[in-house]
Amino acid sequence: GKAGHDHYMHKEIHEQPTALRQAISGRVDDLAGNASLNIDLDDGFLQTIDEIHIAACGTSYHAGLYAKELIEPLVDISVRVDLASEYEVYDGHNTQDTLVVAVTQSGETADTLSAIRRAKASGMTTFAVTNTVGSTITREVDDSLFIKAGPEIGVAATKTFVSQVTALALFATYLGRLRGTISADEGADILEDIRQLPSAVQAILDEEAQIRRLAAQYSDSKAFFFIGRGLAQPVALESALKLKEISYAHAEGFAAGELKHGPLALVTENTPVLAFLNQSAAPEETRNNVKEVESRGAPVIGLATDGADESFCKHTIDIPELGRLEPLVANVALQLFAYHVANEMGRPIDKPRNLAKSVTVG
Ligand code: M6R
Repeated sequence: GKAGHDHYMHKEIHEQPTALRQAISGRVDDLAGNASLNIDLDDGFLQTIDEIHIAACGTSYHAGLYAKELIEPLVDISVRVDLASEYEVYDGHNTQDTLVVAVTQSGETADTLSAIRRAKASGMTTFAVTNTVGSTITREVDDSLFIKAGPEIGVAATKTFVSQVTALALFATYLGRLRGTISADEGADILEDIRQLPSAVQAILDEEAQIRRLAAQYSDSKAFFFIGRGLAQPVALESALKLKEISYAHAEGFAAGELKHGPLALVTENTPVLAFLNQSAAPEETRNNVKEVESRGAPVIGLATDGADESFCKHTIDIPELGRLEPLVANVALQLFAYHVANEMGRPIDKPRNLAKSVTVG
């Protein structure tokens, strides 16, 4: 049942600290500064690959984009992230040295399954990051990494998103240690941030009353824009998807630097802009973009590292400092924002119109 919550989505948002502990438990090797993941893929293969392709849909695609921002600098390997429905393998591609990763909560998404089949048909090694043991995709790939989030009932993916990114952060650490691009000390630092995630997420959940007030204040806005750069850009996309999916409000996520290349034309005093100003997300440059929207009268809600002075924002939501994972924590604040906007509007939050929990048609 919903354990006293009005909606499964609300319950699942609040389950995130527990889900994260499950995702991390037994997977941190402190002595080695490494993740221990029991991966069956051959270490020799993982050492020599020169490209990773990630194929996924919706929220899982955003987790894939976050993973790219983690893996490329840490592992020094190029990561291509495709919407599964658009994933193509071209003749002449170096299939021997490519790992194809399907990110899929359900393991049943038709678009992702068919991307994996195309990858296999061209001889590539396939891997799934999923919540569902025994799902169709896990039976077709060479190996799987389970995110252990527990069942998710709400159509809106919440706890599975944070758990996917966490599992992919562990995988990035593992690859970096294996390939020698991350030292044991650096590995230990990343793992320490991962270990802090459940309590950082809890700190956001404890601020729900403030976020609910903001949601009530802005629930009748004309549109909502989310902006971020670097690690926060995928989170901007994810936050917009969450809000539009459950509230039916017009919401869009942009790379902060893209605003001036078009979307700025839509900004008015009726379009709140939610801006990621986290330390790990190039806040200086995003601040300049925030000034551009403020001068057009848009109310700005800044998501900022705890203690930072963001007095130029109309409102700020404090986010605990957490290195590369800080935008992931900020995302939880915007899950709550989306939930409370939709709730103000009286939407059927767990079962939005036209949507299904798992999309098994291509
Ligand atoms: O089960 P999957 O992770 O493969 O599902 C992919 C998308 O259908 C899914 O994330 C969808 O976008 C969610 N409803 C978003 O909240």
